[in-house]
Amino acid sequence: MGLFDTHAHLYDKAFDRDRDQLIPALFKSLDYIVIPSEDLETSRKAVALAETYDPLYAAVGIHPQVTKDASEEILRKIGDLALSHPKVKAIGEIGLDYYYLYTDKEIQKEWFARQIELAKDLNLPFLIHDREAHGDTLSILKEHKSPAMRGILHCFSGSLETAKELIRLGFYISFAGPVVFPRSIRLKEVAAALPLERILIETDSPYLTPPPNRGKRNDPSNVYYVAEELARLKKLPVEEIISRTRENAIRIYDI
Ligand code: NI
Repeated sequence: MGLFDTHAHLYDKAFDRDRDQLIPALFKSLDYIVIPSEDLETSRKAVALAETYDPLYAAVGIHPQVTKDASEEILRKIGDLALSHPKVKAIGEIGLDYYYLYTDKEIQKEWFARQIELAKDLNLPFLIHDREAHGDTLSILKEHKSPAMRGILHCFSGSLETAKELIRLGFYISFAGPVVFPRSIRLKEVAAALPLERILIETDSPYLTPPPNRGKRNDPSNVYYVAEELARLKKLPVEEIISRTRENAIRIYDI
């Protein structure tokens, strides 16, 4: 049974030189990959890739870093893409990034909220990017709480308390390369403590390459090392981590 990488930016220019060879080769170890987007252009690219390759699915949305360029028209076009393409399985990635602050916090919050409402209207899950904004992320989610709200906190980096609160709000917690880094002591403790039925794995390719491939371009085949680390932390066979995270991803993305 194959792996499910819940978050890989396969349209990224890092894959331009060998994308057509790489993608079919990935299907030797992976059954599914979801491609999240950053803006209208990458949303279109993600949808095009998902329509070219059966095991690929897409999420469409505006990344918090570029919400300064967002508009009503772009939001409407993103909604249209989601409505007219069945391989779009989520809105994302959306959220808050207080690390880079390329966009003012208030603008980020406004477009996070708008895209949460879009996901709820379309009855789709959404993918949250939260970098150094755990408090505001949780309060916006609580303001927009509803039975239709669900999704994934991608590349989780917060505390156990935050993770538990997110699970109570209807979210899955996704771990990427950083949980494999030897220095991520706290993150490993969080992963060890969370219930397996709410855990997902991802690469966030082409970024965040886990050991033993540090320094190279990341691609979805490295999601195996995330599964292997979770198996070590949870004292379970890696096959069980692979099959349970795959089941969880199929459930949240409704595949
Ligand atoms: Ni990403």
